[in-house]
Amino acid sequence: MNKTFIVANWKSNKTNAESNVWINSIDYLSSEDKEVIVCPSFTSLSVFKYNITNNKSKIKIGAQNISQFDEGAYTGEVAGRQIKELADYVIVGHSERRENFHEDEGTIIKKLEIAGKYQLTPILCISDISQIQNSKIKALKKTTIVAYEPIAAIGSGIPDSPENANEMGKKIKELLEETPVLYGGSVTSENVGQFTKMPNINGVLVGGASLDPQTFAEIIKNA
Ligand code: PGA
Repeated sequence: MNKTFIVANWKSNKTNAESNVWINSIDYLSSEDKEVIVCPSFTSLSVFKYNITNNKSKIKIGAQNISQFDEGAYTGEVAGRQIKELADYVIVGHSERRENFHEDEGTIIKKLEIAGKYQLTPILCISDISQIQNSKIKALKKTTIVAYEPIAAIGSGIPDSPENANEMGKKIKELLEETPVLYGGSVTSENVGQFTKMPNINGVLVGGASLDPQTFAEIIKNA
């Protein structure tokens, strides 16, 4: 069965106390056909893992970033081996990291390699097909999920059209074979179903609308 992925990207939001409230207000468990992945800040990963284990929840955990280096003298970085203790997925190459932290293709490839080394499934974000078309990233296709997120749609309230996202999904799958493709950018509980019903879209990456547990639960229900 093909799963629908519903990924929450909290970005730089929520304290541990707020993360706790969120986890305890969401009553939705992932089902056979829906894989729910929540990506909190590094500071909330432990509290998340603790709650999910205690509640026997099927929600999966993702990190929002990973060091391009292995463990060692890299102040401020969080290494793949440390993340693997707490998460199964990791977001790589989000446009906010490409822009604000100057992550280029070389860095992103190293991060994908480190993720692979520690059996973390990368959710590789791209805003344009050119970011994988002529890239060595193609060689890393095996375990990757790709999220298509047009920059203008992120946080703007103006999503891409489902048809356009589907077309991008098709192009991505032509390059990376059967890689699951997610759409991200102003996904809401009202529009999510229009994206997930598209044949080349396997799920959604949700930023702002994932911060409220009730809204996120609606998104899961409607996906
Ligand atoms: P948004 O963010 O849902 O707030 O548009 C999506 C993302 O950046 O992953």
